Amino acid sequence: MKGKICVVTGANSGIGFYTALALLKKGAHLVMVCRNAEKAEAARQELIQKSGNAQITVFLADLGNMADTKKLGQALISRFPVLDVLVNNAGLLSKG
Ligand SMILES: NC(=O)c1ccc[n+]([C@@H]2O[C@H](COP(=O)([O-])OP(=O)(O)OC[C@H]3O[C@@H](n4cnc5c(N)ncnc54)[C@H](OP(=O)(O)O)[C@@H]3O)[C@@H](O)[C@H]2O)c1
Repeated sequence: MKGKICVVTGANSGIGFYTALALLKKGAHLVMVCRNAEKAEAARQELIQKSGNAQITVFLADLGNMADTKKLGQALISRFPVLDVLVNNAGLLSKG
């Protein structure tokens, strides 16, 4: 996984955080997609400290908002023409 571009949505907590950590430990370049800048930065610092890998790029987007999601797609393509892994983790867990 060394240098592979791996996008994880909702990477600042829960399953997304630990998926991101596992990818970083394998040497990946992690792209975190988060909706809150403060939470993203706190998670970024913790991920670097726990993995020893600082290859992390953060994109902010609310994936519940279509305009934000389209902007994210365009920003990702222009920054990383090739994405190796996409983990669509952020979503809804229905408790009903
Ligand atoms: N945990 C389970 O037992 C379980 C079981 C089945 C399926 N799942 C699915 O697995 C995924 C992760 O679950 P989890 O338990 O790890 O959830 P979690 O701890 O609530 O984490 C969800 C992550 O997604 C982010 N997120 C949520 N809505 C977003 C949005 N509109 N735009 C951008 N980011 C958003 C959250 O950001 P914030 O921190 O800013 O809220 C958080 O980083 C979900 O899709 C869930 O439905 C979980």
